[in-house]
Amino acid sequence: MTRAQAPAPLLELLDPSSLRDALLTDARAGLTASPKALPPKYFYDARGSELFEEITRLPEYYPTRAERGLLRAHAAEIVAAAGAEALVELGSGSSEKTGLLLDALAAAGSAGAYVPVDVSPAALRGAVAELAASRPALRVEPVVADFEDPDHLRALPRPGRRLVAFLGGTIGNLVPAERRRFLGRIADMLDPGESMLLGVDLVKDADRLVAAYDDAAGVTAAFNRNVLRVLDRELGADFDPDDFEHVALWDPEQEWIEMRLRARTARAVRVADLGLTVLFEQGEEMRTEISAKFRRAGIEAELDAVGLTPAGWWTDGDFALVLARSGAPQSVTVTPFQKAT
Ligand code: AVJ
Repeated sequence: MTRAQAPAPLLELLDPSSLRDALLTDARAGLTASPKALPPKYFYDARGSELFEEITRLPEYYPTRAERGLLRAHAAEIVAAAGAEALVELGSGSSEKTGLLLDALAAAGSAGAYVPVDVSPAALRGAVAELAASRPALRVEPVVADFEDPDHLRALPRPGRRLVAFLGGTIGNLVPAERRRFLGRIADMLDPGESMLLGVDLVKDADRLVAAYDDAAGVTAAFNRNVLRVLDRELGADFDPDDFEHVALWDPEQEWIEMRLRARTARAVRVADLGLTVLFEQGEEMRTEISAKFRRAGIEAELDAVGLTPAGWWTDGDFALVLARSGAPQSVTVTPFQKAT
């Protein structure tokens, strides 16, 4: 008789109050900055996550399909190149792409373990329940954590030699300084011989890039404005999302897409939980996301700079998967012991 396994308990490294603190801090900093800016991580409440899912199905938004195609074609090769026994997925929302890596892990023979890491306990519970049904033999160790917190990264389970996946091109949402810091922390958390798999969107024709972030159906515009609804609900703000226009532009110097919200009229917005009134001039633009696009030499140099050795590159010309391995521990320079004289 087969018996359903009890769903794996969540390892909770992140407490909800620190999420709230981060939102308060980030919103205050961003709304009082000049120019104003909000971090993209606050897009993803339930409605924002649904809108993002809708984006991934738009004709103009190629990255999700491209990455899925690459994983379908190369997951076995990637898992073999990494010598992986366990898959850690940072920001594990995208669980159907994960299946392709889990299949490859199972085919490679090792029993396999999966460590999904997400800030949302609800998203993790959903994923875990599905996996318990579809892959009863898979060891799942879900973790509620913020992958930008080095303590959380260091505390992730080690159920075998790990491949840490950060897919979807989400690395592009970090500004260069944040990205350097993040990659350095990944390098720190990996044991020698463990690897990271990064999904990166590539620099291409500006028209295609802009279209991917300004679709004809207006889904990305709704996704962009949704961050204002999040602030209204979570911080008692009185943004009217319809007062703001969606803007997507390509910055050829920085090689990133920038999304902004442009105030249609002059506005005073009250943010009750911050005790703050925020003034917008007519036409004023607030940055809500950068989505950096990469070239092979650039991302490989960034990995190299933190001690991660590029070990694989798979691309369809639009999007790429980059594998990087944690090197042997730095050889220690031994200073001969000297007695104090
Ligand atoms: C999920 C963060 C990779 O930057 O392309 C999609 C989010 N923003 N459309 C991206 C997004 C606008 C997406 N990432």
